[in-house]
Amino acid sequence: MSRIVNGTAAEYQMWPFIAMIGFRGYGGIGQFCAGSIINDRHILTAAHCFRGWGVISPQQFTVTLGAYSKVDSEDAAKANQRTYFIAKVTCHENFEARADTIIYDICLVQLTETISFNENVKPVCLPENDIPPSPGTNCIVAGWGETENTGDNSILQKAIIPIVDAKRCQAFYDEEGVNIRGDQHLCAGYKEGQVDACQGDSGGPLVCMSPFGNYPELYGIVSFGVGCALPGNPGVYTNVARFRSWLKTAVEGAPIVDVPDKYYHCEELNRNFAIYNNVDISCRTNTPMAADTVCEIGCKTRQDSLSVQHLDRLKCFCRSAFNCRWIGESNNPDVEFRPNNLDAVLTCQPPKKKDRCRPPIHQPIHSIYPIMNEYRHKENVELACRFSDKKKPKYKKVTCKCNPKKGCKWAPAKALTSNNRCS
Ligand code: ARG
Repeated sequence: MSRIVNGTAAEYQMWPFIAMIGFRGYGGIGQFCAGSIINDRHILTAAHCFRGWGVISPQQFTVTLGAYSKVDSEDAAKANQRTYFIAKVTCHENFEARADTIIYDICLVQLTETISFNENVKPVCLPENDIPPSPGTNCIVAGWGETENTGDNSILQKAIIPIVDAKRCQAFYDEEGVNIRGDQHLCAGYKEGQVDACQGDSGGPLVCMSPFGNYPELYGIVSFGVGCALPGNPGVYTNVARFRSWLKTAVEGAPIVDVPDKYYHCEELNRNFAIYNNVDISCRTNTPMAADTVCEIGCKTRQDSLSVQHLDRLKCFCRSAFNCRWIGESNNPDVEFRPNNLDAVLTCQPPKKKDRCRPPIHQPIHSIYPIMNEYRHKENVELACRFSDKKKPKYKKVTCKCNPKKGCKWAPAKALTSNNRCS
């Protein structure tokens, strides 16, 4: 049996948005919750991580970003790890931990400084609409919580768990007298249990693939459960998709994040995936290690031509199996563009109207050389005129002349209208 019970060690690169939340007190920093970076100064977490402690000040908490291991010596990626302090904690005003359920378990934590993003510290994407993933969808949860001896909880653990329908989840929990509300909760787990979040994972991310592309979105916040990984007791998560408007208001006032060049801004990324009617863009990988990256870009209509303006390159960048994106790059420092704002620079256009010359309707002579199919795509053609095999052919040069208004014509026209007369 394991908890994250029965997970596996997470790939560091896959969770750049996870925040380790600690309490300064007992002779050191004790990790007790987790959260997710949502922009350059806010962490989204569970309200129960901060409420119910009695009176405490924000200075007593720490938020470590770029973390992987709780034990310093094990942390290979220490270079990118940094601990921040908390300026303000805004929890949902209706948060309530009752005997039979926990509702509005969501809290926005504002740091005292802006976050500097790097390869291992990046924001997570938030759901683009109010609809949570459908039951059966496999999502992933991660955290440094209790493993119940199924793994090393000093190293970030992750586990794949399917979404459970709210009604079914309620049915599971009827026995325990726990109330599950579809508007509040998102359940995830297997009916036989075994794999789950657990104590200490609270506030941490449950991510599922975006309906718009190959990248994760934060759909759940670890909230509660009855025991951990028990059969018939799926984990219960705050249904993030249902808190979008609360979140918007809570974050309001904070400047809009302009993620530095190399890093993506979710809304832009989502827009890219959503609005491309003409451009066919794919950027994905089939292994968790992002080794076999598949990057294709083209026009949906084959004949159309793709143009990339203002950019020198387009790069497909995969952080993990479920997080790939296109990045536009320019060598020109004066080119002002948001690297992921590809809709401004990528266009598919039908081929220019430079219709070729049709093969002449009046074939001028008895026999023509070269034959029609050979010259129909050429712009210059020499037509040979001959009455018989014996006579030496006469040549006439005919050119295809094009004009954007009038279209294309063979010239001189005379050469083509001299009905069978080789004159
Ligand atoms: N409330 C717990 C915490 O504070 C998280 C419980 C999650 N439990 C579960 N079985 N999924 O860490």
